[in-house]
Amino acid sequence: MRFHIYFIFYFLYANSYKIVTKPKSDIYKYNGNFFWKIGKSNKYKKGELHRTLFNDYPICVYRDKNSNINAISDICMHRGASLSYGKLLDSNCVQCPYHGWEYEKGVIKCIPGNPTLKGNFGVPLFKTKEINGDVYLCPTYDDNSKNGFIGNNSIYIPPEAHDESFVRIYGNKHIRRPNQMVTENVLDMMHISYVHTFGNQVSPVPFDIDYQDIDMYSGKTTFYYTAGPSSMSSIFGNAQFVKVENEFYLPDTTVTRVFAGSLIKTIVTHCYPIGKNESILHYDLYRNFIQNPIFDGLFYKQMDITLKEDVDILNTIYDSYIKGFMNTKFDVTQLKFREKWNKQFISEKRDKRE
Ligand code: FES
Ligand SMILES: [Fe+2]
Repeated sequence: MRFHIYFIFYFLYANSYKIVTKPKSDIYKYNGNFFWKIGKSNKYKKGELHRTLFNDYPICVYRDKNSNINAISDICMHRGASLSYGKLLDSNCVQCPYHGWEYEKGVIKCIPGNPTLKGNFGVPLFKTKEINGDVYLCPTYDDNSKNGFIGNNSIYIPPEAHDESFVRIYGNKHIRRPNQMVTENVLDMMHISYVHTFGNQVSPVPFDIDYQDIDMYSGKTTFYYTAGPSSMSSIFGNAQFVKVENEFYLPDTTVTRVFAGSLIKTIVTHCYPIGKNESILHYDLYRNFIQNPIFDGLFYKQMDITLKEDVDILNTIYDSYIKGFMNTKFDVTQLKFREKWNKQFISEKRDKRE
């Protein structure tokens, strides 16, 4: 008898702390169970609310008055207004712009005219991380209701980020193509000489190539090229050979590290889906040569041209044939990326089968 009473008290206690959130996790939990980079830290100023679409699901991202990054569902529980159009109050509550409901980390704290209605309901609160000047989001797990799928990927920080001999520039591009297609393109070395004006037309094919798994989320291919006579590598690095490391880290990260003599240029990209056919590509470019910031403009210009050339070719690809029919040994990085993605990604189809 005593056991039963304890159990009832425990049940009431546990449920009084359980937060019921809307919408249900089925709406967002299959959207990509990883941590994804969504922007630079300096974009999120204290008190500003940012509307972020992730796979067509709206999320309100903000830096609170304690400087912490929060990400809550953008859909107000009352009548579905976009919370990002509201404001962040001094209490660190997000106030809906429509009828003033207040949410603290997604939990309702105040409903105007209804002082007793609060405490155990709200909207999903998504996990975030802030590392190396970047903000990452796991858009599939609700920390309020404890529902959904959590991302277990560790976040890749390139060694260049901690190396004082490197300088860094960064930017982003809104691309009207699927994120997977954009990421695979960055893992495709054979397009460079055909698509890019900086490519080496004289010897477009590497003379050696080597793929290695890093872990269940990542892999690395090393390519060896003969340096083109007019390339930056032979002019500035006096290099006969160029080594290129091309790495991926699920879900969104690629690294392209070009070695020419002692010169190293490393481009790190992250691409996330806004919707089915729309994505944001973030890039960081690290270099250990011509470091004076006066020359940053040259590198920005080169990135602009390069990304435009990439987007132009991606726009010509037939949507139903993105995966193609044949592969060569040079496609190994993309194929390994796809293989690991399929193993780690929890999709609706796979979930129903289990
Ligand atoms: S829609 Fe948000 S308070 Fe009414
Ligand atoms: Fe390219």
